[in-house]
Amino acid sequence: MKDGHKKSIVLIGFMGSGKTTVGIKLSYKMRMVVEDTDKMIECKKDMSISDIFASQGESAFRDMETELLKELSEKKTCNIYSVGGGTPIREENRALLKKIGNVVFLRIKPETVFKRLQNDTSRPLLQGDNPMEKIQNLMEQRKSYYEDAADVIIDVDDKSTDEIVNEIVDYVEKH
Ligand code: S3P
Repeated sequence: MKDGHKKSIVLIGFMGSGKTTVGIKLSYKMRMVVEDTDKMIECKKDMSISDIFASQGESAFRDMETELLKELSEKKTCNIYSVGGGTPIREENRALLKKIGNVVFLRIKPETVFKRLQNDTSRPLLQGDNPMEKIQNLMEQRKSYYEDAADVIIDVDDKSTDEIVNEIVDYVEKH
């Protein structure tokens, strides 16, 4: 870290890009607390993400994300945050993410997401027919938002969690 000054770290990226796993390992390595915004919302609302989508719809969930980001952006503590794959879609959220800390985009290819999430039932946006097509379409729609929000981009497809974590640590130490 430049002159020892710490900032929060925010992990963004598509579903299945490893934000949660990388966040946990990074937290050990950096000795910083990690929080997962999906989990914080589930806890606050006492409902799973799937149930929130089913009972209140996606836009209500997006409002919850924005509300939480506003709270986090006011905090003085430096933490690691992994956020939901759709969080950077909103312009307001992208600004809030930048306000919270260094934004790290874990970039992944659609085929890798498909392989990793084939049997997953916890992502409402990927359920139903043709998950590969859904992944490709969503990724295409979101690509520029992720890039726009990112301070640094890390390709994750063929890397181990440790390699990814080390790249993030290298980046953070220089910025
Ligand atoms: C979503 C990603 C999920 C979760 C919700 C919506 C998305 O988080 O927030 O299902 O729109 O990409 P993960 O990226 O942690 O799976």
